Amino acid sequence: MTKTRDSKSKPKAGFSRRDFLSKGAGLALSTPIIAGVAVAEPAGPAADVRILGPGKVPIALKINGTRQSLSVEPRITLLDALRNTLDYTGAKKVCDRATCGACTVIMGGKVVYSCSVLAIEAQGKDITTVEGLSTGGNLAPIQAAFVENDAQQCGFCTPGFVVACKAFLDKHPNPTMADVETGLGGNLCRCGTYVGVRQAVLTAARTMKGGQKNA
Ligand code: FES
Ligand code: FES
Repeated sequence: MTKTRDSKSKPKAGFSRRDFLSKGAGLALSTPIIAGVAVAEPAGPAADVRILGPGKVPIALKINGTRQSLSVEPRITLLDALRNTLDYTGAKKVCDRATCGACTVIMGGKVVYSCSVLAIEAQGKDITTVEGLSTGGNLAPIQAAFVENDAQQCGFCTPGFVVACKAFLDKHPNPTMADVETGLGGNLCRCGTYVGVRQAVLTAARTMKGGQKNA
């Protein structure tokens, strides 16, 4: 005997599709929905939580050893604060979404994408930008090695790469080429200067140990 459409769609349990839709609609009216998923009601702010913004708030950042006071909206990234408020334009805004590494700075001893850190979160941490690498007008070994190895073309990715290389060498003073390739995986160069950049890291490693630059 052929099954009818009614017999196929008849619910097996005592909870019909109509029940589901009507009860679901009630749930939707009473519970916040994000992209089709029910989420818990947001709790109100705890009594001891201080809410900042949306207007500008005063903050202080320690950049290349100098304390800088500024006012920014809490939504402003460290990258935008550096470039637009403090005029440290070494770190570049390229992807603005933690992908390319052009905005790399060192914060609290770690390399970070400054486009993905809020300026307000960076307070109390030592921040090093590419402007802070040279001393007394002399290029840092990694900067000199970039020049020597012709490790840049358009140069847009270069400040981020230089900072990433500096941080890498601080932790890996005797790297192999394989170490360098892996260690710099968070920075992209559209011009394809990877060979020069990797050679620059090895050159700087030798220089920092007092070896011959061209050995
Ligand atoms: S601009 Fe920050 S990672 Fe690309
Ligand atoms: S030198 Fe042009 S993007 Fe790297």
